[in-house]
Amino acid sequence: MLDAGEVARLKALMEWEGQRSAPPDGFPRLPDLPAARYTSPEYYALECDHVFRKSWLFAGHMDEIPEPGCYMRWHNAGDPIVIVHGMDGAVRAFYNTCRHRGAPIVTEDRGKSSRLMCGYHNWTYKTDGTLVGVPERQDFPEDFDLSCRGLLPVRCELLGRVIFVNFDENAMPLKEWMGPLWDEWSEFAFDRIRLAARHSFDLKCNWKIAIEANMEVYHVPFIHPNTVAPLVDAKRNLNTLYPNGHARMLAPAPHQTDRARARRGVPAWLAAD
Ligand code: FES
Repeated sequence: MLDAGEVARLKALMEWEGQRSAPPDGFPRLPDLPAARYTSPEYYALECDHVFRKSWLFAGHMDEIPEPGCYMRWHNAGDPIVIVHGMDGAVRAFYNTCRHRGAPIVTEDRGKSSRLMCGYHNWTYKTDGTLVGVPERQDFPEDFDLSCRGLLPVRCELLGRVIFVNFDENAMPLKEWMGPLWDEWSEFAFDRIRLAARHSFDLKCNWKIAIEANMEVYHVPFIHPNTVAPLVDAKRNLNTLYPNGHARMLAPAPHQTDRARARRGVPAWLAAD
């Protein structure tokens, strides 16, 4: 939650942005991006290793695994994993790979069971990942140790009822990684938020193309002249960079006078020029 002082400071910054007629003093002259960053398989492999394998990734919502024993598959970032609402109430993530010969533990997108059983040879795990059942035990060595053959965990933490995973076992905790956003977002009440629907789209483009379209409002007057543009004052848009790669965009509504113009069909950006 932003306090009143911070809100006043941000509003003043918005006005300053609205008046600005040139880049701020000392703003660096940035080089053009090499186009290969959007096409190179080698660069994409680096991004997978250094971004997606080391960041906290949004994976799901508790409404998708609402009760103890519920589980869901998730495979949006390479290795397939299973996210489990444990019988003890804890939410955990595991590689969806049996410790016997690597078959998938769960094969449907969602399910519910007090035990996770691999379909290949029926090795059976508790919902906390512990291996508890191995058929034909007489064929295994006497000192065969089940305790070191549990499902391999993936880091999994919650922001309220929203589930995040991280493939980096040494990653900092989710709250620390989010930094100031953790408190700023408290007004969204993530501990009470419910899942109304979930939609997935496959886009035929580099992932940054989709992300970058949501990181600026430069395009708004030209791509959305009759929908978003009348609602957003692009000239007073404010971006703040936070640690760990986070950023905050504040896209204010037009001034009252601009809003009145918008009602008459004149976009704010046009009225301001
Ligand atoms: S591969 Fe899972 S029980 Fe054999």
